[in-house]
Amino acid sequence: MTSTHDVTRASAGVLPGWAGTGTAPHLHRARTEDAAVLADIDTHRDELRRCLARQGAVLLRGYAIGGVDGFDAVVRAFSGTPPLAYAERSSPRSTIKGQVYTSTDYPAAEEIFLHNENSYQAVWPGTLYFHCAEPPTTQGATPLADTRRVLAALDPDVREEFERRGWQVVRNFHTGFGVPWQEAFATADRDAVTAYCAERDIVAEWRPDGGLRTTAARAAVHRHPVTGERVWFNHATFFHVTTVAEEVGAGLRAIFPDEDLPTNTYYGDGGAIPDAVTDHLRSVYRANSVRFDWQRDDVLIVDNMLTAHAREPFTGPRRIAVAMAEPSDAPSDGRS
Ligand SMILES: [Fe+2]
Repeated sequence: MTSTHDVTRASAGVLPGWAGTGTAPHLHRARTEDAAVLADIDTHRDELRRCLARQGAVLLRGYAIGGVDGFDAVVRAFSGTPPLAYAERSSPRSTIKGQVYTSTDYPAAEEIFLHNENSYQAVWPGTLYFHCAEPPTTQGATPLADTRRVLAALDPDVREEFERRGWQVVRNFHTGFGVPWQEAFATADRDAVTAYCAERDIVAEWRPDGGLRTTAARAAVHRHPVTGERVWFNHATFFHVTTVAEEVGAGLRAIFPDEDLPTNTYYGDGGAIPDAVTDHLRSVYRANSVRFDWQRDDVLIVDNMLTAHAREPFTGPRRIAVAMAEPSDAPSDGRS
């Protein structure tokens, strides 16, 4: 990715490893070596909230966070509530402690594409927190993309089609392949899963082999509950079979007919999304993204509706904890 005006301002002085053409997060640095993060959040809360709404993300740097308990306290201090449990799991993730999780246990060599956490759910976290316990040796950034800019940059025909038809994700939980439904829903009780889905507008079909197919149709464009801005907020690109590595997608298509793919997306009425459209979506996301190098004890606060996040492949240890807060069920109709 190349540096442009948005980011060169930031990278001129203090932010090593910034690159990209998107909206850079607001950097809030500890003023002194022994500055207390909780007290500073208290003092600067209004300013940090304003920056979060304007830039979509805030990076706290230079504080001694104090491990997982300190990170949990940061979440409580900024959001005013404890972190949320991680429901409807779609990627491998381990609990570190309480509601603090590993960012993902996905293989280090693979990129995780830009997405807004849990945008396929009826309710999603409004705010995400990432804590760098151990930086990677190379790459391993958490690139960010401003979903207001993504929406504005889409081909108007593509945008209008999604506004009109919405999108849906179909997940097939096969026995012995991928994340089992028992893990995704954190229960082995079928009736509990059926009830959970019914409450959240998810169609659940139990398969003869013990597997499960779920279909969730959602709006592709939402309105931000605080700023009132329209945002591109969905997993239509992330979960589409063409977004995984090419050989993986080809392998999956060799094993499963399209309707049985572990995860795939469609327009909300079930119609196929053409490959040319997902190519366009991916390029628009990438063209509006920024990245930075993690430093130990960085805390990144992300407005989950304003900002999509990703993960670069990496080498080295890389331990990033994640927590989610402020459940949102903003009205889905993003049209004015
Ligand atoms: Fe994520």
